[in-house]
Amino acid sequence: MRKQVRISLIGAGYVGLTTAVGFSKKGFKTILMDIDKEKVERINSGESPIYEPGLREMLKELRREGNIEATTNLDYAVSESEITFICVPTPSRRNGDTDLRYIEDSSKAIGKALRLKEHYHVVAVKSTVPPETTERVVIPNLEEGSGKKAGPGFGVCMNPEFLREGSALEDFLNPDRIVIGELDPRSGETLAFLYRGFAAPVLRTSLKVAEMIKYASNSFLAMKITYANEIGNICKKLGIDAYEVMKGVGLDSRISPHFLRAGIGFGGSCFPKDVLALVSKAEKLGYNASLLKEVINVNSRQPYRMIDLLKKRIGSLKGKRIAVLGLAFKPETDDVRESPALRIVSELIRQGAGVVAYDPKAMFNFRKAFPKIGYAESAKEALKGADACLVVTEWREFRDLTDDDFSAMRGSVIIEGRRALDPKKVDGFEGVCW
Ligand code: UDX
Repeated sequence: MRKQVRISLIGAGYVGLTTAVGFSKKGFKTILMDIDKEKVERINSGESPIYEPGLREMLKELRREGNIEATTNLDYAVSESEITFICVPTPSRRNGDTDLRYIEDSSKAIGKALRLKEHYHVVAVKSTVPPETTERVVIPNLEEGSGKKAGPGFGVCMNPEFLREGSALEDFLNPDRIVIGELDPRSGETLAFLYRGFAAPVLRTSLKVAEMIKYASNSFLAMKITYANEIGNICKKLGIDAYEVMKGVGLDSRISPHFLRAGIGFGGSCFPKDVLALVSKAEKLGYNASLLKEVINVNSRQPYRMIDLLKKRIGSLKGKRIAVLGLAFKPETDDVRESPALRIVSELIRQGAGVVAYDPKAMFNFRKAFPKIGYAESAKEALKGADACLVVTEWREFRDLTDDDFSAMRGSVIIEGRRALDPKKVDGFEGVCW
């Protein structure tokens, strides 16, 4: 197979879109398929439906060159490509189980499209799915739809993504490692071809191992953050700075300095869902994953520490005006899924406070959950007349805020949930773990 190999991706969400743009940038032709007509039209007109640094510019350029297209027609996407990635969402059910509805639907539909294909085709699962899903759900659906046997009839891989929102393109183009779970060597070879131009080590494994690597990685990172938060909570009681402590801890090469930033806990579309899914999978296998359960517990309590601190400083929140700076679950994204800001704002409202929020990118999405709170055009505007300020996301622009800006507040209490402000420019703020 030469570089003319074409790739289709089912699901033009954040993973599908970034992966398509990344592979196109590497010289492959890609076809993105999504049921959302509006999204497809936007992509085809060179507009990114999500905010991700660099994505819009790159998509525009690739569209001009004709290396990427979007369609609502799955049969077309599969028939015009040699490799199909499944990039559909795998949301959590209420009980923590993974909802595999979209995986089932898409694998059935891909199977049907494969029925008509004469040439060898590989289907690769990119969506995060619990161990055994590719074997037990994806393959049977593909076989049923296509009337062919996995292996001789078509190839199957499980190729997890490790993309961070806010740096997804960068992560795609410069990965730490590439994991290829394969049904058989031919499937794996075909997929490995796509990654020839990458400088990262390629790990070839079974399907189940690849699925588990993704969960074990994300759960570890979630646990590492939670550990930093637990130490941070103790540091706070000691009156010391968790960041200073973690600097000393992270210099141990066995630990590494990454993901030790204490604060109000992890959010986003992956960590909370993935830890929960692994706990639930373990349960089904007859194992009580108590460590991971506690990660979830500590993490869900962490945002409320901001409220506790706030109340210690200003008493009852009833009738108070609180400025909330930052709503996204982390900087450089407009994503508010599982953002600690959701819990914080909801609790502020429950206790009778008035909220005026500002976020450089995420207000549109946050408004869907909280249409009635106040939204400001800038951080400075949010601060005007506020009794207190909570800094919830560490957007870079908040580092430029000075005492002058905060002097527009009625009160003087500033509490940081993330390390965001510059102590040289702002006086007297307090952090959750520092
Ligand atoms: C994560 C994984 O990093 C990525 O590999 C996976 O594919 C998807 O999930 P993402 O959710 O985009 O990526 O964000 P990440 O940068 O990992 O941060 C997740 C959350 O943890 C954020 O809320 C962030 O603020 C928080 N975090 C991160 C901390 O609280 N402390 C840290 O030290 C690091």
